[in-house]
This record gives sequence, structure tokens and C-alpha cells, in this order.
Amino acid sequence: MKNIAKITLYQYRNYSSASFAFPQLVTCITGPNGSGKTNLLDAIYYLCYTKSYFSAYQQNSVQNGAEGFRVTGVFRNNEEQATISCKWVGGKKEVFRNEVEYEKVTDHIGAFSAVMIAPDDTELINEHSELRRKWVDGILGQADRQYLEKLIRYQKILQQRNAWLKMQAFRVSENTNELEYYDSCLAEDAQYIYERRAHFLTEFLPLLSDYYHRLSGGSEPIQVTYISDLSQKPLLTWLQQQLQYDLRYQRTLKGIHKDDWEFMLNGLSLKHFGSQGQKKSFLFALKLAQYAWLTRVQGHLPILLLDDIFEKLDQTRMEALLRIITGPGFGQVILTDTHAERIRAAFGSDSEIGFVSLG
Ligand SMILES: Nc1ncnc2c1ncn2[C@@H]1O[C@H](COP(=O)(O)OP(=O)(O)OP(=O)(O)O)[C@@H](O)[C@H]1O
Ligand SMILES: [Mg+2]
Repeated sequence: MKNIAKITLYQYRNYSSASFAFPQLVTCITGPNGSGKTNLLDAIYYLCYTKSYFSAYQQNSVQNGAEGFRVTGVFRNNEEQATISCKWVGGKKEVFRNEVEYEKVTDHIGAFSAVMIAPDDTELINEHSELRRKWVDGILGQADRQYLEKLIRYQKILQQRNAWLKMQAFRVSENTNELEYYDSCLAEDAQYIYERRAHFLTEFLPLLSDYYHRLSGGSEPIQVTYISDLSQKPLLTWLQQQLQYDLRYQRTLKGIHKDDWEFMLNGLSLKHFGSQGQKKSFLFALKLAQYAWLTRVQGHLPILLLDDIFEKLDQTRMEALLRIITGPGFGQVILTDTHAERIRAAFGSDSEIGFVSLG
């Protein structure tokens, strides 16, 4: 278990300067709308991944009118303690562990982990494939350094190849060395990423199915299909065969940057035929399975961050969720709600919950 014991925020979102402690295994952050509950959860997430869960623009996390922000957290792992500090000033990010700066920010990834469940997360089911790729990459990237490095290189080379394709529209180059280099790099990295993604699913699916059934109380069969160009042939073959189309469209049409996952319930596409309730249960099951999978490969329990979920769940599913997250296989839980009383009632009066009250 690697828990967060304390956090200090400086010029982060609505916080000018504030500190919070989390002495209990379960902490509930309460306060009215707009009081900073989600921002506080996001700051904890930031310390684990050096990025916001909610915003792709780091600058948005800077308090309006300020130059930058700093978030510092004290993490505990049994007897060990580590202080992580993230600083963002003038468009530059610095990350420190016990006051020593990381040479590469990516070296921090995987040291501490968190799983967030937030109200808008059903996007993962309803929206386009890019969100699902980002989600899977986020999971695999923190468990496997090579995956992260290969993915970063793939994305960089893909951009270069696309730029090369665009250039051909103006000036056809006789020299194909550059293209051959791009293709061989892409093919190598794509193969690794494809195999990891495919293997991940075989381990992930039983966890997903188990959590879905525990949450929903049902036993409908669940299927997840991994859709990839590489399941038909290696990327190098695709790139060579597709070159005329890539040139026409001036971008690389085949590759792992097109991968997707289809979620099915009872043999039907969840995205197109699932009910709201089924989608919500499925989303929670996806996140709980993510938590269980990370625990297994990383060997420690991530921090579970639950934003506003009690607004969104019915009584039965909420009780099932609470039983799961306070049971074996789960560690520190930090959640938010507008009503302290509702949380107290849901957990039962004899359970030990810490409260942080805002606003
Ligand atoms: N960069 C920023 N600088 C200053 N204030 C900000 C910044 N970003 C967000 N805020 C403020 O933070 C507040 C929102 O905080 P947050 O989303 O954490 O609230 P919340 O308690 O989760 O509310 P709700 O119950 O509605 O979900 C808003 O008042 C918003 O104006
Ligand atoms: Mg909120």
C-alpha cells in the first residue's frame, strides 16, 4: 500500500495556499458546489502522474492571475516515507522526490499510482477511440517502462512520417531512405505495443467481468474485442502496401494509432445499445478492474479517487460498490460528496472515515 498522508497546494486552481491530512484509510471531502473538492482530488492525481486527470492544459491548473503552482505530497509505504513535489512555472514542469529533482519526469511514473472515477468518465464508452487508447496507454505505460518509451517514439516518428507524406505533395523525393527508416521504426514499436495491448486484455477481461457482475448483481456475458490493423498483418506490410493511399491522404492510415476496443454486453455493443445504468456499471467495473490489474503488476495498492459518484449511483449499486472498495484488495480511498451525512449513512456509523470539510 502506498498512501498519501498529507498534501499541500500552492496557487493550484482555487487554492492559494492550503494543506490537508488523510490519516484514515477512507477520507471524504465534503463541501458545496464549487468549493474545490474535485480540484483537491485532481491535485492528488497530479502528484502520481504529474498531470491533471481533467485538463490536458497544465496552465489551467494555475490559479488565475498566478505565475505557476506547486503541489507537495507526503506518501507512505509501510515504514517508508517520500515527499513528492511538482512545480509548474513559466510553462516548465519540475518534479522532486525528497527534494531531489528527477532528471526525466517519466522516471516518476509508476512510483505511485491512483485510479480516478469521475462523473464524465462514461465518455470512455460513448466517445471516439482516442479516449480508449489513452486509457489503455495510461495503464500499460505505468506498468511497463518499455511500453511508454516505445509509444512515445512511435508517436514522434508517426508525426515525422506524416510530415514526409505531406511534403511529397510539393516535391516528390526520389530518396526513400527516410521513409524506410520511419517504416521500420514504426513497425518495430507497433508490434511491441500491439502484443502488450492484446495480452493485457486477456488478463483484464476476467477482472472486468467479475466486477461487473458484482456491481450489477446480474450475470450477462461481457465481451471486449480488441480491434487492430495488426491482427491481420504486420505493420511493415501494411505500410508498404498502403503507401499510395497514405500519399493521397497525406497521413499514415494504418497502425496502432487506430486501435480500438469494443465493449459488448449480451452480445450487443454497449456504446450503441446499452442503457445508462448498464454503461455506468460497466464504467465502474472498468475502473475497478484497472485498479486490480495495476495492483497485481505493480505489487502495491493504488489510491482510489472517487469524484461525486454518489450522485450517479442507485442505492443497490452504491452499496455493492462500497462493499467492494472497503473489502480486501483495496487500500486508501478518497471520495467527494456535497453531503457528509449521506456518506456517513452509506458507510455505517461504526466505520472509521476521515472528513475534510471545504467551503
Ligand atoms: N485556475 C483556476 N484559478 C482559480 N480558480 C479556479 C481555477 N480553476 C477552477 N477554479 C475554481 O474552482 C472552483 C471549482 O472547484 P471544484 O471543481 O473543485 O469544485 P467542487 O467542489 O468539485 O464542485 P462540485 O460540487 O460542483 O463538483 C470554481 O469556483 C472555479 O472557479
Ligand atoms: Mg466536483
